[in-house]
Amino acid sequence: MTRYTADSRDRVRDAVDMLALVNERTELRRAGATEYVGRCPFHDERTPSFGVNPIEKVYYCFGCQAQGDVFTFVMETEGLDFTGALQTLADRFGVELQTEQEDPRAAQRRQRRERLHSLLARAATYYARYLWEAREAEPAREYLQARGLREDTLREFRVGYAPSAWDRILTASRRAGFSDEELLTVGLAQRSQNRPGQVYDRFRERIMFPSTDARGNVIGFGARAMRENQRPKYLNTAEGELYQKRRVLFGLDRARAAAARAGNVILVEGYTDVLALHQAELQHAVGIMGTALTEEQISELERVAKVLVLCLDADAAGQEAMLRAAQLTDKRNLELRVVPLPKGADPAELIERSGADALRERVAASVPFVAFHVERVFEQVDTRNSEGRDRAFQQLLPALKNLRRGPFGDELLRRIAGRLELTEAQLGSLIEGAARQNGAPRDAGRANTAGPIQDLPTDQAARAERAFLALCVALPDAGARTLFRIDADQLITSPAMRQAARHIAGRTRSPLADLPSDDEQLARTVADLVARAGRAGQVSEDQLAHAHLVLERARIERSIRRARAEGAPGIGELAREREAVLEQIRQVVAKLERAV
Ligand code: CTP
Ligand code: MN
Repeated sequence: MTRYTADSRDRVRDAVDMLALVNERTELRRAGATEYVGRCPFHDERTPSFGVNPIEKVYYCFGCQAQGDVFTFVMETEGLDFTGALQTLADRFGVELQTEQEDPRAAQRRQRRERLHSLLARAATYYARYLWEAREAEPAREYLQARGLREDTLREFRVGYAPSAWDRILTASRRAGFSDEELLTVGLAQRSQNRPGQVYDRFRERIMFPSTDARGNVIGFGARAMRENQRPKYLNTAEGELYQKRRVLFGLDRARAAAARAGNVILVEGYTDVLALHQAELQHAVGIMGTALTEEQISELERVAKVLVLCLDADAAGQEAMLRAAQLTDKRNLELRVVPLPKGADPAELIERSGADALRERVAASVPFVAFHVERVFEQVDTRNSEGRDRAFQQLLPALKNLRRGPFGDELLRRIAGRLELTEAQLGSLIEGAARQNGAPRDAGRANTAGPIQDLPTDQAARAERAFLALCVALPDAGARTLFRIDADQLITSPAMRQAARHIAGRTRSPLADLPSDDEQLARTVADLVARAGRAGQVSEDQLAHAHLVLERARIERSIRRARAEGAPGIGELAREREAVLEQIRQVVAKLERAV
């Protein structure tokens, strides 16, 4: 991280023309010897209450109390951190920044980085020129035009074309003084398989989308195939020193200011989506490069806006991505919204088919993630029978656990309760129960329960009992057979689990059915088991058999302890029983190991 001297900071402040800076965002007029006023750029207002003092270079809003100096103004309006604001202002007002004395190793690292960035920037320029000038790139130009992408948009994003020859970038870069090692590091060249020591251009005959870091430095490329049978469709820069796919947010440098102004950022899947949205005047769009949103991307986005608007193809992968995004944003107090798209369409295709207005309308009609998710689950799951209602509950649970109460949340819960044929109170305690058992503390406002509720078992025995019952739910047939045979009083020690076992026996297909409405404890335990079964995914009967045997062993060991304590006879018999169970456990473990 570059650190600039305090003196640099002062010189930038001195050089900034405060009125010119603020005038770019809002029109100012003189209102006193040293005061100017205008409409506040930080909140919506009709009458001007935003005051600027151009001498002191500070501002204050009498409406929303926003205040600050030249640096905070740029940070707030352009979504930059302090260093970013400093650099922007230094550029704009022609100040040379001085960095604090670096230690030689750090200086060396920075210089290497700068060289690599400049190598990639040169390559991007080369590819872009090639796209617009080369005869060979004509089909690419036609293709992009046919996709509805305008030249000014393509130029802004520095889209290019990689020649078919194998050594253009190599030769040009070597001539400019770069080493093969540097070319390999940034992923522009790769080693030949057949001829040791030989390197050649990695990208050939492809449309080139440069990826940048938050500052706009090129860090790599996404290269789209042009020929019919060219694989893969997108060839990305390999993971390396500068380029890590999980960190990339395509177009963030261009989207930042617009997103800060709009208060939200639109997430789309791919390169062409970003370009198409940008062209549709939705400049606050960034690409997440495929589907899985990462922690790293969320951390970066968090600094840009507190509302993330997902505009992803709602296919299975897209839905998976949305659920994942919901998990990541829940932890961070980010608001997640979804733009409903027609099935199987990405936003770029929607614009191509129905025009920019159609997409803008959909974006304006985005819905909170949880509402979207509920809609999808009810579309996909048949809730006319109790099994289906159980499945729907399982799928809804992760999203419902963080639902805030209020007109919107309450209405949603009413609808869900209706569909699941539960009373609202029952649904409330089912959600409550599952949430508590995952260790998530609930805010007090949500809880609609009173009275002492026995806490859930945490000791080892009870955990094994819970795992066993969850497997009975996950495998309803085998589970029903097993529960039919056991003696719950003997096998299960935790009162809560014993009670749940009795309820589930005979109802493994629909454990949530017939819950007594006045038994909070039971509802919670069963909801937790159902949720666990849902999370367990694919499980086998051997796993269930194993879980059962573990309880049998525990039961026998309890009997042995009791017999010892009471000095009762029959310990030999019990020991033989235990040996038999241990042998069965060994066999089933061996089977489970073979299965993986
Ligand atoms: N992607 C990738 N590698 C692949 C395929 C896809 O990195 N082999 C990423 C790219 O960022 C791509 C995004 O996933 O933009 C979405 O993929 P896809 O929908 O297949 O491509 P589009 O962006 O829609 O491209 P096009 O419209 O040109 O087909
Ligand atoms: Mn597409």
